[in-house]
Amino acid sequence: MSSSFAQVFGKEPLVCARAPGRIEFIGNHTDYNGGLVMGVAVDKGVTVSLAPRADTSISLATSHGERPAVADIADIRPLSGPESWCNYVLGVAKALMEQGMNASKGFDIYVESDLPSGAGLSSSAALELSTGLGLAKLYNFTIDKATLARVGRKAENQFVGMPCGILDQGVSAFGEKDSIVRIDCAKESFSSIPMPQGLRFWVFNTMEKHNLVESLYATRHRECMDAFALLRKAGSKANNLAEVSPQKVRAASLPAALEMRALHVCEEHRRVIAMGEALASSDLSSVGRLLSASHNSSRTLFENSTEKLDALVAILDRTDGVIGARLTGGGFGGAAMALTFDTFTQKQADKVCEAFAAEYAGVSPNVFCATAGAGARLI
Ligand code: GLA
Repeated sequence: MSSSFAQVFGKEPLVCARAPGRIEFIGNHTDYNGGLVMGVAVDKGVTVSLAPRADTSISLATSHGERPAVADIADIRPLSGPESWCNYVLGVAKALMEQGMNASKGFDIYVESDLPSGAGLSSSAALELSTGLGLAKLYNFTIDKATLARVGRKAENQFVGMPCGILDQGVSAFGEKDSIVRIDCAKESFSSIPMPQGLRFWVFNTMEKHNLVESLYATRHRECMDAFALLRKAGSKANNLAEVSPQKVRAASLPAALEMRALHVCEEHRRVIAMGEALASSDLSSVGRLLSASHNSSRTLFENSTEKLDALVAILDRTDGVIGARLTGGGFGGAAMALTFDTFTQKQADKVCEAFAAEYAGVSPNVFCATAGAGARLI
């Protein structure tokens, strides 16, 4: 890895950091609504190598890029077009400086990833977290994991312009081997739940990407904020949408679409609580039921599923060895996840892909089997 950095920059890196991608296990669109969410850090991710510079330039290179992109630490602005991937790095540098990191000189950074591309595993959070950890080390700035996750989210919200919650960054920061990360997004507190033995996570990507996915996500975000504002106006004392009870949402005479979005969020939040109980008692049939209920709610209430995701989840649901399946992440295309017994192997995964390809004119999903791995770290 350092040889690639050396090839581009003609010197050795001083700091290397790595952060994992994530699977959203359950808690769909609950994060920016102050709800609970569970995710798993996967054993693949993004590695960054860094070295200081004597001037104020920032030079950014990737293993698959051509010439490095250039920015200035004294005047950090978003880049566009093929260089827009740099905004995750630049946004993190800016957010760290706003947090008090003192950086008067620039840096060289080289980015490599072994996350399958476009697989719905949040390579952006992996890039933010590895960069954040690497820069903090390079500039001698002490940072804890929760602040690191917040810095990544701030970069994404304020610099990249995506109004995401803290799921992706929190899981990438707090991942642990064989564990699920549970986030209370209202308190921004992070904990670990041991995985029952003998299970596997699979991600099947439909390879379908809605070209409006960012704006659809932003629309759902706004609908949730609007629903909560109306509920407060109607007298709710709740601190966030997830806290409101489904009964109160139904009684509030919200516009139909807002009622559906709000119901999804507050019921999903309660499904995460139930999931915690089901996992604690290794009650796998309840685990499966909750995963299916989450998907159905995305399909009918939040309307962030697609025909292809529904078809994939239906195929998974009728396949031996699958405990439960649901769309994972923002939705509007992208990936479904399945929790399976370890008797479900690549052979069964290939059969799922064949069945999907038979329905969708030869389009085969991209498959990824994950074990829960460690969070962001210096290497
Ligand atoms: C994306 C966002 C997360 C979260 C999920 C939906 O992955 O980055 O913050 O909102 O969608 O649960």
